[in-house]
Amino acid sequence: MKTAYVTGADRGLGHGLTQVLLEQGYRVYAGQYMPGWEQLSALKEEYGGRLTLLPLDISDPGQVAAAAGVIAGNEASLDLLCNVAGIAGKAGRGSVFDEFSESDYEGMHRLYDVNTLGPLRVTRSVIDLIVRGEGKTIITISSEAGSVGGNWRNGEYGYCMSKAALNMQSAILQHSLLHLGVKVLCLHPGWLRSYMSGKLNEQATEEPLEVAYKIAGLLGDKRLMDLASPMYMDYRGMPLSY
Ligand SMILES: NC(=O)c1ccc[n+]([C@@H]2O[C@H](COP(=O)([O-])OP(=O)(O)OC[C@H]3O[C@@H](n4cnc5c(N)ncnc54)[C@H](OP(=O)(O)O)[C@@H]3O)[C@@H](O)[C@H]2O)c1
Repeated sequence: MKTAYVTGADRGLGHGLTQVLLEQGYRVYAGQYMPGWEQLSALKEEYGGRLTLLPLDISDPGQVAAAAGVIAGNEASLDLLCNVAGIAGKAGRGSVFDEFSESDYEGMHRLYDVNTLGPLRVTRSVIDLIVRGEGKTIITISSEAGSVGGNWRNGEYGYCMSKAALNMQSAILQHSLLHLGVKVLCLHPGWLRSYMSGKLNEQATEEPLEVAYKIAGLLGDKRLMDLASPMYMDYRGMPLSY
């Protein structure tokens, strides 16, 4: 049975990917950040032993290590890691002409800690399992907001810089894992009807579950999965500029 580990699985895209992977027969380890949120428990009721919920704040090294310990205790390998957890927040959203307070700078540190260092912590914690797996795939959910070449914004420093650095992390990872046959995909998921602003964004254009199906579909595209193919793209497989 194929195995996967998904972070930020409570709601939004992480939940969608967890559901799709379970439907496709994977055994899934899902990072749970919001134990009071019921969507993940509903999947647990439906899929029972094929879904393991792990308490996970990706900014907490102890929780990241504990989650990896549970997975390593159960599995000799992992086929797929999906780094999905991320935050937006208001820190550093203004333009260079706006006043930035100390709390803006603190908030931007938090964005970097979660959006950039979080995926690195998680990837490092299970990299040996990924290398031993058959799927050998790491999906990192970034954003078009991390594209330097494609930038059109006058503000949003905190979020954009955290995702640009995540793109660099993904590029270094891909470079360092090529000889081991591990493919890294760094994806923009579109504008999601999810909870990044704290409440459901009903104006956004993409349903997280539909995007999750499309992302799972990318895994079956031999051309995209070729180690020499570009790794930064949107959820439909359209390449993006770094
Ligand atoms: N939404 C968009 O339009 C959009 C566009 C481009 C890229 N993305 C990226 O897509 C990914 C998924 O976002 P989404 O739209 O599905 O957002 P979401 O609905 O907010 O889902 C993200 C989940 O991760 C959780 N989380 C927050 N901090 C965490 C931490 N430290 N450790 C573990 N989990 C944590 C969130 O909890 P809380 O709700 O309590 O924070 C939430 O349950 C993110 O990486 C985001 O940057 C989203």
